[in-house]
Amino acid sequence: MTNPRESFNKKDTTTSSRSATSPAPSGKARLAILLSGRGSNMLALARAVREGGLQGLAEVAVVFSNIPEAAGLQAAAELGYATASIDSRGRKRAEFDAEVVAKLREFQPDYVVLAGYMRILSPTFIRTFAGRILNIHPADTHQHQGLHAYEWAWENRLPETKITVHLVDEGLDTGPVLAQAPVDLRGAQSLEEVEQRGLAVEHQFYADTLARLIRGELHPETPAPAAATQP
Ligand code: GAR
Repeated sequence: MTNPRESFNKKDTTTSSRSATSPAPSGKARLAILLSGRGSNMLALARAVREGGLQGLAEVAVVFSNIPEAAGLQAAAELGYATASIDSRGRKRAEFDAEVVAKLREFQPDYVVLAGYMRILSPTFIRTFAGRILNIHPADTHQHQGLHAYEWAWENRLPETKITVHLVDEGLDTGPVLAQAPVDLRGAQSLEEVEQRGLAVEHQFYADTLARLIRGELHPETPAPAAATQP
């Protein structure tokens, strides 16, 4: 019997008719894009794949959500991308993530690209795709982690925030930073304006950073060397 929490749409008219498990004949990096909400970053990445900085470098293998009714998932399906979802509500993290890993593996992703995927990943998930999971965070992850980063910038009247693209580890927005982009917030009149300015940067910057990573131009920040011990 089909698991009612799981749905799968194999329609993918933007790439080819090959099955979800066959290797990419194109040599392009295969992206599994994960989201939980409206999916504006997913749409920006998909656009960059079609006609922007990721063209010729990457292809969308699948768009996955832990929320079956997420607007972003619907938008991806309407654009013809393969989509999959497993409802995370009420599930234990390790067990749920094991199912997600199995589902994503069917699509043989080279990169797992979190785009508003509001979950902390289990160690098994991280190990499976080690060094190949990216996230975008709307603040400097050294200064702010978790939800509500634009609210934080607005409430503190920051003159600038930094969009961060980082590799994902087992913590909340703690993985090694790949790149950061400043957002000028001076003169912003509302939280909506802060978010609008930030998202405009996010949408360009995520694709650009991923393109640089695929081309081998980026190396994640390495932890500072431990301080020399006193003799
Ligand atoms: C984006 O602002 C993204 O940076 C943020 O969620 C939003 C998702 O929007 N992610 C985080 O806060 C991760 N800690 P989207 O669904 O329109 O792409």
